[in-house]
Amino acid sequence: MSTHTSNSKITTTKIQSMKGKGSIVSLTAYTKPMAQMMDQFVDLIIVGDSLGMVAYGFDSTLPVTLDMMIAHGAAVVRGAERACVVIDMPFATYQESKEIAYRNASKVLIETGAQAIKIEGGLEMVETVQFLVNRGIPVMPHIGLRPQHANTQGGFKAQGRDDAAADLLVQEAKEFENAGAFSLLVEGVFENAAKRVTNAIKIPTIGIGASPECDGQVLVTEDVLGLFSDFTPKFAKK
Ligand code: KIV
Repeated sequence: MSTHTSNSKITTTKIQSMKGKGSIVSLTAYTKPMAQMMDQFVDLIIVGDSLGMVAYGFDSTLPVTLDMMIAHGAAVVRGAERACVVIDMPFATYQESKEIAYRNASKVLIETGAQAIKIEGGLEMVETVQFLVNRGIPVMPHIGLRPQHANTQGGFKAQGRDDAAADLLVQEAKEFENAGAFSLLVEGVFENAAKRVTNAIKIPTIGIGASPECDGQVLVTEDVLGLFSDFTPKFAKK
């Protein structure tokens, strides 16, 4: 249940200020009715590109397009009166240059009315995050297991197992914080790495499969409801 008590719209700055004030509650949604059902109970709704696998049956998130994210993002925004809505930027819409990232991210915010975008990446995306934030686009970077990088990360594998890998995650987290990110999504990392990342920064970490050592948790709603039968992560209790 959300820790936020008033009915006013939850902004990205509100999410940022929630670090250390109880767990931030988040779920994914791809449609208006799903957003309406969860709106009063969550702080954040993430329109994830997992929709490609969960709702469209692709075997990865790579085929998801900007138009798909905009159509689903706008539907979710119409159902979310209170929760902060963050929309995933799909593969190949932000990596090429910071200018292309700005063009596509601004289109997403303009055409959906969402509050922020999420991009997957490591140190190579720090400059892009700073460029977007300085020009009015709130960003939630996504570190650790990055499904858009499944082909370079050896599949959907947990990250941050040894000290060197955890050090890199901490460095990424700090640089994204300095670049102006309002929060950080941490997916599929070992508990020790999640704890180190969370303790290293003043912006909240939202974890998925990243242990309780994060400032908030997000789950893919279809996993919790048992509606996605291809694969159910062990951390998603039905
Ligand atoms: O695509 C997705 O659903 C995600 C979740 C981790 C929020 O990125």
